[in-house]
Amino acid sequence: MATQLTATRGPVMKQSSSTLHSAPRHFGTLLSKLIAPFARRYIAGTTLAQALDKLAQLKAEGFETTFDHLGESVTSPEEAKMATEQYVVMLRALKERGLDRNVSVKLTSIGLAIDENLAREHLAQIVHAAEESHGFVRVDMEGSDVTSTTLDIVRDTKKNRSTPVGTVLQAMLKRTPTDALELLRKETTIRLCKGAYKEPPETAYQDMSEIRHQFMALTKRLLTSGLYHGIATHDVQLITELKRFAREQKIPKDAFEFQMLLGIRSKVARQLVAEGWRVRIYVPFGRAWLPYMWRRLRERKENVWFFAQSIWQR
Ligand code: FDA
Repeated sequence: MATQLTATRGPVMKQSSSTLHSAPRHFGTLLSKLIAPFARRYIAGTTLAQALDKLAQLKAEGFETTFDHLGESVTSPEEAKMATEQYVVMLRALKERGLDRNVSVKLTSIGLAIDENLAREHLAQIVHAAEESHGFVRVDMEGSDVTSTTLDIVRDTKKNRSTPVGTVLQAMLKRTPTDALELLRKETTIRLCKGAYKEPPETAYQDMSEIRHQFMALTKRLLTSGLYHGIATHDVQLITELKRFAREQKIPKDAFEFQMLLGIRSKVARQLVAEGWRVRIYVPFGRAWLPYMWRRLRERKENVWFFAQSIWQR
């Protein structure tokens, strides 16, 4: 990516379970300069035009995509409104370019940290734009402080079976089996992931074998629900188990989709497509990339080396 990546802005440094952990505010600018070279692997660009080109390239490679405008923990109503308008523009641009009209949105980017009703209104606008363009809106899941509110808002926004909105559940949270049942009762499509936020042991499993166990149990429940869901992981152990389960249960390859993040395990993603599975790539773009990158950095020890090398090679 030729463009210089420079992260914006105040709100992204707000500390909560939904944002950066223990990164002091004055550290932000320095941190953003250091992470920029590392970020290029995971972000489709800072402009809409760059990101649309990336989506077109992925489509040509046989992937489906979901498009994310980076931003979260927004504290000004103007910014929340701008983020909402951005999603409407994105959906129109996707339609015009003949690309996948599937977007992913964080409720704190469209006002949840300001006023729950503001986020509701903004989500309704985005879902309306998706209805107009025959698209789909996936509401990302953030920290456990907003899980209940996020699920409430999605449930209220989904007027009927065909309202094009779904959400995300995190296998690490102990409450997730109950949430999954509730969403399935409402015929809501789910993206299942492990969970990217640091959560306390009271609310979330900390041990990877427990998280994997719950992930697989939930996957089996979703795949036999008769609804179309997304299973979001780069974990080859889980992917292998899932494929075996699908074969055993004679679940057709187009009855669900794998989902992966841009820049992670691309070889595995390509292999799945070659085998005939559906794979959707999560494609983020924009300038407010710092919290997203921080989570990717924390997820994997080897990234610290990759990050250190990218600084060294500057
Ligand atoms: P795991 O972390 O064990 O990774 C498996 C392997 O993948 C690693 O061994 C490594 O090879 C590779 N890998 C994983 N992370 C990497 C990284 N950062 N850099 C390089 N390689 C890496 N979370 C959330 O809380 N709310 C959400 O809405 C979403 N949405 C979402 C959408 C999509 C499409 C995906 C794939 C993931 C999310 N997540 C998320 C993130 C998710 O919760 C989780 O943090 C990551 O997917 C990492 O978990 P894995 O299951 O991939 O396993």
